[in-house]
Amino acid sequence: MRSWLFIPGDSERKLAKLDALESDAVILDLEDAVLPEAKTVARKRVREALDARPTPRAAPVWVRINPLDGPLALADLAAVVGGRPDGIMLPKFRTVADLQRLDAALAALEAREGLAENSIPMVAVGTETARSLFELGTLDAAGPRLQGLTWGAEDLAVDLGAARNRDSKGEWLPTYQLARSLVLAGAAAAGIQAIDTVYTDFRDREGLRESCRRARADGFAGKLAIHPDQVSVINEAFTPGDDEVEWARAVIAVFAEGSGDGALSLHGKLLDAPHLKQAQRILAQAAQSAR
Ligand code: COA
Ligand code: MG
Repeated sequence: MRSWLFIPGDSERKLAKLDALESDAVILDLEDAVLPEAKTVARKRVREALDARPTPRAAPVWVRINPLDGPLALADLAAVVGGRPDGIMLPKFRTVADLQRLDAALAALEAREGLAENSIPMVAVGTETARSLFELGTLDAAGPRLQGLTWGAEDLAVDLGAARNRDSKGEWLPTYQLARSLVLAGAAAAGIQAIDTVYTDFRDREGLRESCRRARADGFAGKLAIHPDQVSVINEAFTPGDDEVEWARAVIAVFAEGSGDGALSLHGKLLDAPHLKQAQRILAQAAQSAR
């Protein structure tokens, strides 16, 4: 999925737009977009929004719950799982044990609701705690529910006691570049998708486009969004261009016609196994985007 748009879980006005949004997924937020005094009403509204979805379902609707080390997460899950969310996002993850706890809680609630086991996948926000940075290489131990990994720089700065996370030109400082890279490597190592963090300046479409371009080139499969205007920019940026699709088809054709050699050439450049994998990935992304 290319674009994941957050909607604050307590905002009736924004939740009412759910069916009109064009993001590949939406994430109804019970965490940081909702003030402590609005948590209960947000849970209720999120559940109502899940129940009101048309069947067959439109775009996937995920829910971001509160962190597992606080008092809200389990009640969030108990309130929303009966609405059959398409997945759960876990913020401020610390260790793989957190993901295993969430997995166990979801298994119990799936049984309560008569849902198939493992029918609700999870995505973790991988870098909001300092501790999590040391866990990102072991995510395959989280089990089959974990389908994606994203990251956040704001909460990490708070956890580190840092006064800023970007330099004067707006580029991530080294610690946050490291966090971003660990997310890419951790997701690839676990065979799950890496999802880039939010671009908070939602009026700056050019800046968003550049941020998406870099993210895709570095291996992210999609990006979080906070505003509906960001969705089309993200979808376009994470859809392979015609030139890429043409290249991928040519590479696959060269291998198909090949003499069985592992090393071939196209337009005077070496082609070997990684290029074939890259070409197959581009065609798979193009097919996904066209759906
Ligand atoms: N989901 C659904 N609708 C949204 C939306 C969102 N994330 N963000 C804005 N809209 C709607 C607004 O309600 C408005 O429609 P309306 O005039 O009918 O009310 C329209 O889109 C245009 O909004 P705009 O005036 O440009 O922005 P805003 O000032 O109302 O809201 C934000 C700006 C940042 C507060 C808002 O985009 C938002 O709440 N984003 C999500 C924040 C979030 O969930 N954060 C947690 C993860 S970091
Ligand atoms: Mg946060």
